[in-house]
Amino acid sequence: MKSTNIIYHQATVTRQRRNKLNNHRSIVLWFTGLSGSGKSTLAHSLEERLFQRGCSTFVLDGDNVRHGLNSNLDFSEVGRTENIRRISEVSKLMLESGLIVMTAFISPFSKDRNEARKLITSDDFVEIYCKASLQKCESRDVKGLYKRARAGEIKNYTGIDSPYEIPQNPELIIDTENQGLEDSVSTILEFLELNGIIK
Ligand code: ADX
Repeated sequence: MKSTNIIYHQATVTRQRRNKLNNHRSIVLWFTGLSGSGKSTLAHSLEERLFQRGCSTFVLDGDNVRHGLNSNLDFSEVGRTENIRRISEVSKLMLESGLIVMTAFISPFSKDRNEARKLITSDDFVEIYCKASLQKCESRDVKGLYKRARAGEIKNYTGIDSPYEIPQNPELIIDTENQGLEDSVSTILEFLELNGIIK
């Protein structure tokens, strides 16, 4: 059911004014990759560095958001699509609020990532593919979930019996299998500086 008779209210404190006050642009950094590919670790380390530089930041993390806002969603294709749709909308609001938003969700389907890009718009959307092989992610198995998926205890596990579609044109590819955390953070910081997002 859709709401009707709703009229958009224009804020006087705009994104432009917030960005000026913050002394950096707001942006969405969309981390995607297999479970265990380092999305959350990278997003939080980057956030730490940005925060120390005085930036306004926030990390939206799959495991956390699925405990609250998205706790009614499963890992079916429909559930994942809705997960990503809601996160896109939340990110868009945070973008207006002047934040550097980092999202760390597997977001396995190209169509869902493309919808997110369309909603947020390409100018404000930086897709960062955390590239690590299934073999590597499975060998890390920090949460022990790959083992349970292999044993058939968890169904629709990404990389095991549910697909991960590799991004075709991401703004950045971070080789989290071979590159250290500090180097990966530096690569993203450089990208943000080069593109005039942070000073
Ligand atoms: S997404 O596919 O909808 O983008 P999301 O990033 O929110 O996934 O959540 C992924 C996390 O949920 C994984 O890191 C893992 O800890 C946990 N998880 C539990 N069940 C599954 C599953 N079937 N597939 C993938 N991840 C799962």
